[in-house]
Amino acid sequence: MSVSVDLHAPLAVLGQDVQVPLASGEKVGYAALDYAASAPALQRVWDDVAAYAPYYGSVHRGAGYLSQLSTDLFEQSRRTVADFLDLRGGDQVVFTRATTDSLNLLAAAVPAGTRVFAFETEHHASLLPWAHAGLEVSYLRAPRSRAEAVAALEAALAAASEGPKLLCVTGASNVTGELWPVAELTATAHRHGARVVLDAAQLAPHHRVSVRELDVDWIAFSGHKLYAPFGAGVLAGRADWLDAAEPYLAGGGATRTVAREPDGSVAVQWNTGPARHEAGSPNVIGAYAIASACRALTEAGFDALEARERQLVERLTAGLAQIPEVRVLNLFGEAGDIRSSARVGVLSFVVRGWNSSHFSAALSAEYGIGVRDGLFCAHPLVRTLLGDEEVAPSECGAPEPSLPGERSLNAIRVSFGAGTPDEHIERFLTAVRELVTDGAAWNYRNEGGRCVADSRR
Ligand SMILES: Cc1ncc(COP(=O)(O)O)c(C=O)c1O
Repeated sequence: MSVSVDLHAPLAVLGQDVQVPLASGEKVGYAALDYAASAPALQRVWDDVAAYAPYYGSVHRGAGYLSQLSTDLFEQSRRTVADFLDLRGGDQVVFTRATTDSLNLLAAAVPAGTRVFAFETEHHASLLPWAHAGLEVSYLRAPRSRAEAVAALEAALAAASEGPKLLCVTGASNVTGELWPVAELTATAHRHGARVVLDAAQLAPHHRVSVRELDVDWIAFSGHKLYAPFGAGVLAGRADWLDAAEPYLAGGGATRTVAREPDGSVAVQWNTGPARHEAGSPNVIGAYAIASACRALTEAGFDALEARERQLVERLTAGLAQIPEVRVLNLFGEAGDIRSSARVGVLSFVVRGWNSSHFSAALSAEYGIGVRDGLFCAHPLVRTLLGDEEVAPSECGAPEPSLPGERSLNAIRVSFGAGTPDEHIERFLTAVRELVTDGAAWNYRNEGGRCVADSRR
């Protein structure tokens, strides 16, 4: 079935006409296939920000008209995000810098003595803040099916001692793109009295997310992956732990009153509500941009976006399945069947006989395609997925092993979303086929850790 979408409104993205130079000197339209790192800005977001820019003023600070307007816009953006996420009454929306910041904020706010549960497959932003904040963490082994994930959590929670508990889980993997069984994991966690924070950095740009229906306690996502690259992110959810915690940052905006005491000290009454964790001048443009993206995605409807993306994912996986040298990395899919696992528009793979950095460099220099190579800030997961994969050496040199004595590993990730035309996927598949069959047309060299085209073969 072919799903047609209007690529112009409301989900048109910037950069569709950008031309980039190839190693040959020719220019081609850039095929942006690295949405999972940072998605292009929506035209709608850009236009909304540009329309607001002349009215820009300080938030929560000024008496002037533009300050009042900017404050209203900032608070209205909070309400738009709350609607977009389908929050419950009483839930809070805190504006942060991005998902990493949101999860570090939550890690700093959970009650002392909380035990955190996280699968080792998480992005480092979901894996690391907890121990860094001094909490006890149980790292669960990489499950090889969704049912196994639920069973592993069940067993871990059943064995856990009394006290506050928190599960941090991703909605969609930033490496494999696979969807995680969030509702089932949440039900399991709640049965054992554990709370749940959902890392929706890769889910929110692709799927409708209802906090109420999933029943998660908190959710985190980044504006720059949601087509709103203006330096803001979101942590939203239950108010109790946030209001009871020390403010994330100490400073203006987080305080109700600050007074000098007779003994020379300074007494502070901190705000409750989102302001408690938003010290400093708020990023009103970032918050407004996120709200604009939420409105555009809601207006376009996730049904159309998801249908379009499924079509591209099917074309991509069917095309890659015909290239025996390509191995797609799946955690949950049936062995050998790369099309069996439900995923968003994110997929990683390795190519037999190729170093992934070399391959990705050739995609860029010879075809104008931008993908990502490496371990994608999810080192334990990529190590598990690559298993005993031989990493081919290349003229670029294999990347340095991250642990002494360990083999070096890396993979290639392709990711897409709103505004991705068929042509980008077709060009990508043609490029992979040609590189595998004919080899690169250029010699590459390592320049300061980057693989760059050197001379024609
Ligand atoms: C699943 C996941 N979680 C968290 C993050 C961190 O997001 P940010 O870099 O925007 O803070 C990323 C970024 O790639 C991600 O993919």
